[in-house]
Amino acid sequence: MKPVTIANDVYWVGAIDRNLKRFHGYTYTVARGTTYNSYLIMDDKITLVDAVYAPFAKEWIDNIKSIIDPAKIDYIVVNHLETDHTGSLPELVKLCPKAKLYSTAKCKEGLLKNYDIPSDMVHVVKTGDKLNIGKRNLDFIEVPMIHWPDSMFTYCAEDKILFSNDAFGQHYATSERFDDEVSRDILMAEAIKYYANILWPLAPVILKKLEDVKKLGIKINVLATSHGIIWRKNVSKIIDAYVLWSQNKSKQKVTVIFDSMWGSTEIMAGKIADAIKDSGVDVALFNVNKTSLTEIIAEMFDSKGFIIGSSTHDNDMLPTMAGFLSFLKGLKPKNRIAAAFGSYGWSGGAVVSIEKVYKELGLEIIQPSVSVKHVPDENDKKACYDFGMSFAKLIKSKI
Ligand code: FEO
Repeated sequence: MKPVTIANDVYWVGAIDRNLKRFHGYTYTVARGTTYNSYLIMDDKITLVDAVYAPFAKEWIDNIKSIIDPAKIDYIVVNHLETDHTGSLPELVKLCPKAKLYSTAKCKEGLLKNYDIPSDMVHVVKTGDKLNIGKRNLDFIEVPMIHWPDSMFTYCAEDKILFSNDAFGQHYATSERFDDEVSRDILMAEAIKYYANILWPLAPVILKKLEDVKKLGIKINVLATSHGIIWRKNVSKIIDAYVLWSQNKSKQKVTVIFDSMWGSTEIMAGKIADAIKDSGVDVALFNVNKTSLTEIIAEMFDSKGFIIGSSTHDNDMLPTMAGFLSFLKGLKPKNRIAAAFGSYGWSGGAVVSIEKVYKELGLEIIQPSVSVKHVPDENDKKACYDFGMSFAKLIKSKI
């Protein structure tokens, strides 16, 4: 895609990755692909903010070339080390060997380890440092853990643009570049999914950092992210949403997730979900084998309650559920209530293993588990329905 003007003499020169289906290894399903956003500022000192993923180096450099000879680039700001934003840097640096790179100390350390870039080319900056590029000044704001310890924001006061890198991004590949050009519902759904799957464990740090940035009193007209859509109409709404999401609040909603060997645990899950729905509490029901983890986590993100079930296999939960719970452990959900269920043939074990994970996570096991031997009969189905009804009542008493 050709460059797009985001302010006078400031251009998006990134790349759109429509074919990407998995991100962060295999953990994040990106149904709508992603973008790697990079920005070119045409001032007295030609300045580039962030790079793109290595496979898109040629497309990115061609975008830059359509505006300026890359040899004329003076400064390259590297807001974040992760390879989706730096992988193409070595190719560009070959074309502008005299350019100066600016990054945090931790980012510099990683750049030198990952790439063949001369150490004296990379200049370390920290919060409060300013870089004059002619008519504009760029302010650097360290934001460790949004998304990595090396991350920083770059702010241009003259254009009121905050180059926020991963923060406020979405995995959303479209031909449109701005929030007022796309469906708000899709955009917010992708923004929540991104936060839940990538930033959820960092929520306390993000909340503190956002408060620090707010105290700086900077006016932001454009939030130029490194993934997906650029915010220019709903800047305050997405910032407010991040504050809200970082507070780990949830609503009267339960996510029921199950893994079933021969269908008995699936029957139990259906009865539990029916009861929750009948009680007037929102419920989302997933077979962990048939839904992407990304979609499940997005639903869990605003659910007060988690009910997780598995058939017993080798005295334990089924392996797919074990993998899912390992992923959930890394996301460190807080302030949630939970319960377990499952079926078994000749000995139980799955519910014990699930509850062990709840305890490791510090989740409150709000009621005893329900287990069924063999195929659920009518009494068992009623027990599952009652289990769901009881859980829903407890949710209502909590929110
Ligand atoms: Fe989009 Fe933390 O990289």
